[in-house]
Amino acid sequence: MWILGIESSCDETGVALVRSHAGGNLPQLVAQALHTQAAMHEAYGGVVPELASRDHIRRVLPLIQEVMQQAALPLADLDVVAYTRGPGLAGALLVGAGTACALAASLGIPLLGVHHLEGHLLSPFMGADPPTFPFVALLVSGGHTQLMRVKAVGSYELLGETIDDAAGEAFDKSAKLLGLGYPGGPALSALAAHGNPQAFALPRPLLHQPNLDFSFAGLKTAVLTQSRKLGDELPARKADLAASTQAAIVDVLVKKSVKALKLTGLKTLVVAGGVGANRMLREQLQKDCQALGAKVHYPEPELCTDNGAMIAMAAAMRINAGVERAQKSYAFNVLPRWPLAQIATV
Ligand code: KG4
Ligand code: ZN
Repeated sequence: MWILGIESSCDETGVALVRSHAGGNLPQLVAQALHTQAAMHEAYGGVVPELASRDHIRRVLPLIQEVMQQAALPLADLDVVAYTRGPGLAGALLVGAGTACALAASLGIPLLGVHHLEGHLLSPFMGADPPTFPFVALLVSGGHTQLMRVKAVGSYELLGETIDDAAGEAFDKSAKLLGLGYPGGPALSALAAHGNPQAFALPRPLLHQPNLDFSFAGLKTAVLTQSRKLGDELPARKADLAASTQAAIVDVLVKKSVKALKLTGLKTLVVAGGVGANRMLREQLQKDCQALGAKVHYPEPELCTDNGAMIAMAAAMRINAGVERAQKSYAFNVLPRWPLAQIATV
């Protein structure tokens, strides 16, 4: 079965083709293409929703053509078209949904709307070392920070989440305060490599609470206060401040993930979402999980941030697991706010 996936929830237009096999084998990623709008939004210091939607419209059809050419597959051979149904920016989601719907309707094939976070969460199954169920998932993106207990495809129990900013947002906002580029995560972590993570004691909210919730909103205030205190010294100490900021975020993410493993008794952790590309997070998790006898699985680095492959893959895995059937119903709707734990109820 050939499944085309389209992602357009934020500032990346992603298209990919997955081949799904009957039986127990995992679906295979066959071709993918991506356009990132980061350079376009950089001038504004964040994503401008209207510009994002317009750019998705410009990019999506050429990307579909590119993927089909890579795979040397005619459109008529497609079996299912999948798209990101939510959560995300409404206008941006509608571009992918509308395109997927029109394509599926023109081919007379079924359509399937996928949860963006389920895409992130299942993306390590495309890696060389796929995890096995059940596991704890740490979802860390620009809009979400959640710990989930994953029993099987489609079975997601929320263990804890951020009560304010997401981890990626904490990276992005701190980077902006330090005058670094957008998106801030990669820029801040690159600068942090040259700094001392212990230079400044920044807050680690909720770290010692018994629950698995996070809070990152106070961090940007602490970074702002610290940078004001430094005054003229800031340029010379910027790398130290970046390193201390990264250390604060990573410390909380690692300790709460370890706590989730201990509470559930599970020995497998899956890390997904853009912040999962962070090197320090990977190194720390590796170390602390090893000490616990647990194993960490990541998507391939290029599949950590938004892409079409994870959407096609999630659709294929949902169909294979019998959790969902793609429908020849072309009245689509998008869900800009859609909690993953409620995936079975809509
Ligand atoms: O999953 P994603 O591509 O989009 C959302 O669904 O939000 O995540 C984007 C987020 C941004 O906040 C970005 O700064 C962050 O992931 N990010 C990183 C790194 N690469 C991307 N944060 C820290 N270190 C990185 N290397
Ligand atoms: Zn994402």
